This record gives sequence, C-alpha cells and structure tokens, in this order.
Amino acid sequence: MATSKASVATATVPNDLEPYWMPFTANRAFKARPRLVVRAKDMHYFTAEGRKLIDGSAGLWCTNAGHNRDPIVAAIQRQAAELDYAPAFQFSHPKAFELASRVASLAPGDLDHVFFCNSGSEAVDTALKIALAFHNVRGNAARVRLIGRERGYHGVGFGGIAVGGIVGNRKMFGALIAGVDHLPTTYNRAEQAFTVGEPEWGGHLAEALEGLVALHDASTIAAVIVEPVAASTGVLPPPKGYLQRLRAICDKHGILLIFDEVITGFGRLGYAFAAERYGVIPDMITFAKGVTSGSVPMGGVLVRKGIYDAFMRGPEHVIELFHGYTYSAHPLACAAGLATLDLYRDENLFERARKLEAPWAQAAMSLKGLPNVLDIRPVGLTVGIDLASKPDAVGKRGFEAMELAFHEQDLMIRGVGDTLALSPPLIVSESQIGEIFDKVGKIIKAVA
Ligand SMILES: Cc1ncc(COP(=O)(O)O)c(C=O)c1O
Repeated sequence: MATSKASVATATVPNDLEPYWMPFTANRAFKARPRLVVRAKDMHYFTAEGRKLIDGSAGLWCTNAGHNRDPIVAAIQRQAAELDYAPAFQFSHPKAFELASRVASLAPGDLDHVFFCNSGSEAVDTALKIALAFHNVRGNAARVRLIGRERGYHGVGFGGIAVGGIVGNRKMFGALIAGVDHLPTTYNRAEQAFTVGEPEWGGHLAEALEGLVALHDASTIAAVIVEPVAASTGVLPPPKGYLQRLRAICDKHGILLIFDEVITGFGRLGYAFAAERYGVIPDMITFAKGVTSGSVPMGGVLVRKGIYDAFMRGPEHVIELFHGYTYSAHPLACAAGLATLDLYRDENLFERARKLEAPWAQAAMSLKGLPNVLDIRPVGLTVGIDLASKPDAVGKRGFEAMELAFHEQDLMIRGVGDTLALSPPLIVSESQIGEIFDKVGKIIKAVA
C-alpha cells in the first residue's frame, strides 16, 4: 500500500527549501544561501541565529508603522477570537464599514467610497475594471483603452502587467490585454541626476497624453493610471507640474485618472496619500501595503462619489458591480487596518515622515561620489540609488549589494536591478537613518 504524502509529512519531512517556488526571487541563489528572518520588532528583523537586522525597506514597502506593533497584534488576536470570517458578498461585518469610512476620511476631495480587496495587484485590476464599467454604465462603451506608463509597476494581474511598463513582467505572458498604450517614463538622468525631491525638468512629458488622444481619440480612452512616484522601478519622483498637467488633460477629454498609491499611500511621502502632497485629486486611488502596515494582506480602491453614484441605479435587488473577492474586507484585515490607522494618527507618523524628509535626503546624498553611484533620488521617506551595472551582468551589482547587506551589514534593503531602494518604517529615528546610510556606503564600496 502506498504511504500517503500526509502521513510521511507529519513524521519525517525535513525543512526543505525546495518545494517553495519563491515570488520575484532568484530561487537557486536564495536556496544556496538563504536570507531567512524569524522574528521582527519595530525597526528590526531577527534571524534564527539571533542576528538583528535594521529594516531599511519596511519589509516590502509595507510595514510603515514598524514591525509587530502591540496594538496591531492585539487587534488581530482579538478579531481572530471573535469573528474569523463573514461572507463578503451580500453579507458583511461592522469593521468593514468602519475601515472604509476611516480610509475615505484620509483621502482628499470626494474620494469617499472604498472597494476592498487583498493586494495591490487586485486593487489595480479592480480600478481598471471600475473605469471600464463606469464608462459603460454611462453609455460610453467605446471607452475601452487604458493608458499606463513606461517603468510603471502595477502588480502582476493581467490588467496590471498590461498597463505596467516593465519588460520583464510582460514579455513572457502573451498578448496581455488589448487596447493599452503607454506614456513615456518621466525619468531622464541627463536632466535630473542627483535631484532631491521632484525634478524641475520633465513636467512637459504629460503632454504625451495629448499625443495618445490624437492617435486613439478621447472617445476610446477609459483611464490613465500612474504611480505618483514610480517606486518599484527605482523611486522616480514626478517632475514639477507633471501630475497637475495629467489631471488637466484627463479633465479636458473625460478620461479617468487613477493614482496607484500602493506604495505612496499611508505616509511614505509624508501625507496620507501622494494626492495630497501634490495637490491633485485623481478619480481613483489604489492602496494596499501600508493600510495594515503589512500585517494582514489587504488592498482597496478609493473612488470619487460620482463614480460610485453612477452605478447606484436600476432595480435595488440587482448587484451593481459584478466584481469582488471572497476575502474583500476580511475581518482580520479590517481589524489590523483600524489598529494601524489609529497608530498612524496617535503617533503622527505621516507628519513624522514629512519632518524626517530633509535629514533623510541629506544622509542619502552623502553617498554621492562613491564608486559607481550614478544617481540618488530621495523623496519622502524613500530613495533610489542607481549603481553602474557590471559589464555584461546587468543586475549583478545590485544583487550583490542586497546579499551583502543582509549577510554582512545586518541591513535589509531592496535591490531592483542595479538600483538600491530604501524605504524604512516611518518610526525610524535620525540616528537609525545615519546607521542605515553608513551601512549602505560600506556596501557600495564593497561591491565596487
Ligand atoms: C504601485 C504598485 N502597485 C501595485 C503593486 C502590487 O501589489 P501586490 O504585490 O500587493 O499585489 C505594487 C507592489 O509593490 C506597487 O508598488
């Protein structure tokens, strides 16, 4: 008789690294020399051997309130004991409504309705679908085109990779979705290198949207989606005036403007949302990550009142939007979200990030002149540091820096190709900022 896998598993299976196919990871390199953490608290991760690493990347741009904060942990524990799950379709639970109100109250203008999901990728696909459906319910079914931007990252759903602008995320996955076009990237090293914050040059690049309108006609375009700061491809702040011009062109042509704030939301740029920092109100904001400080998966889309209202018609027993997830507004995520928003408020963490922006930028810029440093782009409490690629080995220097940071400098950072991306929890202290950049400087010299 064959032994079942399960009975073997309970007895003898070793802690084998092989079965887990890791996401966006060089699996073979990882499994040859793993980077595992087993515990975290506030600004630090801990390894099984007891090493203490300072977190320079807020996990994956998400633990904005710091790790394992007591009020968030307690809220999750309480919720798990009280209500594990409520059906998301046709039923709900009070914390879902409470969290929607709290998130909406942080957003500018009439961005006052929230559709919940479980990740940034789902938030993006949800927003794109709402855009298409919005035009549809208003009788503009020909508005089907979606406009993204080169170097944009909008997660990994088919919608997100279609509007995204990263070749590696697109080229293996067929024709993606039809009718997508892209704006040019706002980054130009020759014009912008070593700028602190938003570059002077590049606002005019928003006019490329007029070019796409001329090519496709506005009557075929549903929405434009951009990250206010394109974070995942190396922290590319918007040139001055760029987002305002995009907003004006979208208004002129009846095109919806979506800000993907999965990273820029919840304090990364010193405000609840980048929309507030830049004084531009988009039609939708996607969020995830920081809403629960990374503690429980959650994402969502903030939509303007007019968009929500456009759907609220027809017989009242009929579903208005055929979209949703089993775990939309999951009770654990809502409890975590409410506790997280309390912490952001009670500890003034968005304001703290705003105050730390100048010392953060100054410390980052101190790395200028180190070997291979081609550009440094601090904005808010994040920075991208471009290193020159090794000849014929694009991405290797960045990979080595990330590895060396973990194994030898007790620092967690992100390597994106040959760019180092830093984004600490918003509770970081000025001395920890000094510690982080001191370590990064050593790493850059070591990988020279
Ligand atoms: C701007 C943006 N959109 C979407 C996503 C996708 O989020 P998730 O990985 O939660 O699906 C990310 C992730 O980094 C992101 O930065």
